[in-house]
Amino acid sequence: MYTQALNNPAVEAEVEDEEKLAAFQARIDREEKIEPNDWMPAAYRKTLVRQISQHAHSEVVGMLPEGNWVTRAPSLKRKAILLAKIQDEGGHGLYLYSAAETLGVSREELVDQLLSGKAKYSSIFNYPTLNWADVGAVGWLVDGAAIMNQIPLCRCSFGPYSRAMIRICKEESFHQRQGYDLLVA
Ligand SMILES: [Fe+2]
Ligand SMILES: [Fe+2]
Repeated sequence: MYTQALNNPAVEAEVEDEEKLAAFQARIDREEKIEPNDWMPAAYRKTLVRQISQHAHSEVVGMLPEGNWVTRAPSLKRKAILLAKIQDEGGHGLYLYSAAETLGVSREELVDQLLSGKAKYSSIFNYPTLNWADVGAVGWLVDGAAIMNQIPLCRCSFGPYSRAMIRICKEESFHQRQGYDLLVA
């Protein structure tokens, strides 16, 4: 797997020192992007793995309540729109798992953590979508809220996460608009 070529976090923790921390902080202050092979504090790496994987899990789990409605969408047009949105969410999960993998963790580990309940995902997806209007409310309000949270992440310090978020935010605005349109209709 390609992540073997990247830095080993265990070795890094030993060599962490004040000088490296100060240089790292200076790069953050200059708004430079931190890339996978750059030195980074162990806590920064750990937080990123947790945050990015939790985000990836939320994208994937978010497909489930909408997937339940594919066979019951009221028209072929609505079905095609819903399928496109669900496919986007799967893609968001995949970009984000890839970003997390650059930090030295495998996708298998991340998925195991999700399935065992050790890793969290956004609890909003535990609420049922009982009728077709709920699908519109999810698109308009849940994806709308996600945009509010995710726009600042486009400027986050870790390059792979930041770049993934720029792409994801473009697609989320389509999700919000289709949700509003569905609900009004
Ligand atoms: Fe998404
Ligand atoms: Fe979305």
